[in-house]
Amino acid sequence: MPTYHESVMRNEVLHYLNVHMEGVIVDGTLGDGGHTEFILKNTAPEIRVLAIDRDSSAIERASERLSPFRDRVTLAHGNLGDIKELAAENGITSVVGVLMDLGVSSPQLDTAGRGFSIQHDGPLDMRMDSSQKTSAADLLIKLSDVELASIIKDYGEERYAKRVVRAIRREQEERPITTTGQLSRIVARVVKSSRHSRIHPATRTFQALRIAVNDELEQLKTALAGMMGLLHSTARVAVISFHSLEDRIVKTFFRDEEKGCSCPPKIPICVCGRMPALKILTRKPLVPSEEEVAQNPRSCSAKLRVAERIHV
Ligand SMILES: C[S@@+](CC[C@H](N)C(=O)[O-])C[C@H]1O[C@@H](n2cnc3c(N)ncnc32)[C@H](O)[C@@H]1O
Repeated sequence: MPTYHESVMRNEVLHYLNVHMEGVIVDGTLGDGGHTEFILKNTAPEIRVLAIDRDSSAIERASERLSPFRDRVTLAHGNLGDIKELAAENGITSVVGVLMDLGVSSPQLDTAGRGFSIQHDGPLDMRMDSSQKTSAADLLIKLSDVELASIIKDYGEERYAKRVVRAIRREQEERPITTTGQLSRIVARVVKSSRHSRIHPATRTFQALRIAVNDELEQLKTALAGMMGLLHSTARVAVISFHSLEDRIVKTFFRDEEKGCSCPPKIPICVCGRMPALKILTRKPLVPSEEEVAQNPRSCSAKLRVAERIHV
């Protein structure tokens, strides 16, 4: 049996999503299909799943794993940002749950050839969807110094972004940067980890490039907005994020939808007419238990936020 990605907080996800006896749940980030499988195993047979992933190799792997549930699951290759269109293409107009388990899966991280990893040397790729044109190596060539520094600073929260860019440019004067090993060495020469940190100094630069290559933050924003029109009354939305940039987007979106009215505070009466559309079910994000983190260290930065569509 293949070694699959370990699904994070699957009991918590099931607890929040298992409230309807029938209908469609969208798993917007299928990955190895662990969450989908767990949902299908533990919900009524009238619950079906539309499972989306932009990585066709993830769809292939999960399709085998989910074969016992063939009649309850539809697999769709595409972007989470196109959730509305993908649902429509599959004849779905209303859903009772949405799950987004953001970021990359273990097979993506651990396969050197995918170019996500600092640990395994491989081509500097980082595309979740291999049919997409621009890889991380292309970005290092295409972007101006200012653009590259702002990506590394904003998406990687790397305070030495300018220093990293200068080191990248120095290397590019000598030879092209084509591998993850090469990039991690370049960054490690100019950024030092703090004394007690076990995190590789290139981690923030790698995160930034991955987010940029896959346009992850815009995808997330479009997905959140796009799914709203699909939510059945009392449908639940569960989002697991792995870094503060994603979590902030989810938190702000949920808050805005819970508040409804977006008029400036100075205006005495609402003129925008926006009604509250979500109720937040997790005031503070849920995090994995100590046991889960001990068993699956990759879950350590996960945060789960859940909201419910207000009765419409
Ligand atoms: C953390 S893994 C999901 C693991 C899955 N929940 C499981 O239990 O096996 C994230 C997956 O989402 C996919 N993904 C990330 N962002 C995406 C996006 N914007 N559109 C579609 N798929 C995306 C990645 O390709 C990856 O396979």
